[in-house]
Amino acid sequence: GDGRLWGGRFEGGPAEAMFALSRSTHFDWRLARHDLAGSRAHAKALHRAELLTDDELAGMLAGLDELDADVASGAFTAAPTDEDVHGALERGLMERVGPELGGRLRAGRSRNDQIATLIRSYLREELAGVASDVGELVGALHAQATQHLGAPMPGRTHMQSAQPVLLSHHLLAHAWPLLRDLERIADLDRRLAWSPYGSAALAGTSLGLDPEFVASELGFDGSVANSIDGTAARDLVAEAAWVLAQIGVDLSRISEEVIVWSTVEFGFVTLDDAWSTGSSIMPQKKNPDVAELARGKAGRLIGNLAGLLATLKGLPLAYNRDLQEDKEPIFDGLDQLRVLVPAVTGMVATLTFHTDRLAERAPAGFSLATDVADWLVRQRVPFAQAHEISGAAVRYCEERGMELTDLTASDLPAIDPRLGADVLEVLSVAGSIDARDGRGGTARVRVAEQLDEVAHRLAEL
Ligand code: ARG
Repeated sequence: GDGRLWGGRFEGGPAEAMFALSRSTHFDWRLARHDLAGSRAHAKALHRAELLTDDELAGMLAGLDELDADVASGAFTAAPTDEDVHGALERGLMERVGPELGGRLRAGRSRNDQIATLIRSYLREELAGVASDVGELVGALHAQATQHLGAPMPGRTHMQSAQPVLLSHHLLAHAWPLLRDLERIADLDRRLAWSPYGSAALAGTSLGLDPEFVASELGFDGSVANSIDGTAARDLVAEAAWVLAQIGVDLSRISEEVIVWSTVEFGFVTLDDAWSTGSSIMPQKKNPDVAELARGKAGRLIGNLAGLLATLKGLPLAYNRDLQEDKEPIFDGLDQLRVLVPAVTGMVATLTFHTDRLAERAPAGFSLATDVADWLVRQRVPFAQAHEISGAAVRYCEERGMELTDLTASDLPAIDPRLGADVLEVLSVAGSIDARDGRGGTARVRVAEQLDEVAHRLAEL
């Protein structure tokens, strides 16, 4: 009952530095309530195998409930002498029900199957929380896109002016990757829903315990088919770390744009006061710290994934203590996203878009050149030539310090005789946008459909 789960074959306790290295309660304590849920299910499995009497089961469950309440209230915590969450909780149970009954719980299980189960149930719960936060962010993007349906902006490739697009279309282009992240979480949950309880140390459970029973008690879909895999595999933790890193990358992409858009040179957005910070020396400053922290934390989330994969590489079967190193990176990733995603949502929801400025810049940088080429194609000019002629129009304008929208009928013959005066009708941002009316395109009708599609997808996930 001293929180140590082994020792019979040892003459003395561990060296101080050995214990300091081994100890994990400072990070695995957060799994305590999941461990208690596992213990309740395991106690019932012991009872079904007639290894606990009715009275013993009742006493054990009462002790576990009491311990759970004390863990929840903070009345019971890990002691400095506890090696890990499992040992601490066994100590707590023995303190409540006595060493005789408390000492019966560990039969037929190992910390190896315990921890493998706990990390799965913990991830299932936490990822559901991340998914709900990401859903809010998709909602914020959708709300901004709805509010600005019809507002044009300059679309870019290579960061250079490309073609005008609708601001809504652009904002929804950030919503789709996040919807896919939600799909990833839902999909990963199906793989996390297999309980390793009953794998014991590696070879499976003896004593007639029923892993399928424990799995269903814990809300899993079933128990693992291979006890060695069940205790040794952490690919699911790595997959979770990847999903978190991918969400970080998706937030970082949004954030980079907000950072650029909020510069005086772009002037596309203004950040809300509540979601920006000032400078201690420069009175004029309003800094996009939320966006910068998102960009920075993406690096950290990627590092967590890379570190975890490096830990897993080259591990022989079955359990190895290296696997204890899976926890801090994934816990850190979850902690970071739980503070980050709501802040990015707040920032996005309160962005003020300067639609006049966006509209003014939409045709800049000759972004209607493709429309000139497309007009020529409709006049049966082969596209290769149309491309040349439109390029000549760009050069003509560039030499004279004008935009394509400044062209008049008198300029056209000097550029190419095939440019009729009708071409001037397609030289408008609205015309260019609405011409792109194939599915997925930036035409207003398509973007309106897309708004419905995003809302529908979000409701499904
Ligand atoms: N703290 C360990 C981990 O996180 C729990 C399993 C320990 N098992 C063992 N045989 N030492 O992986």
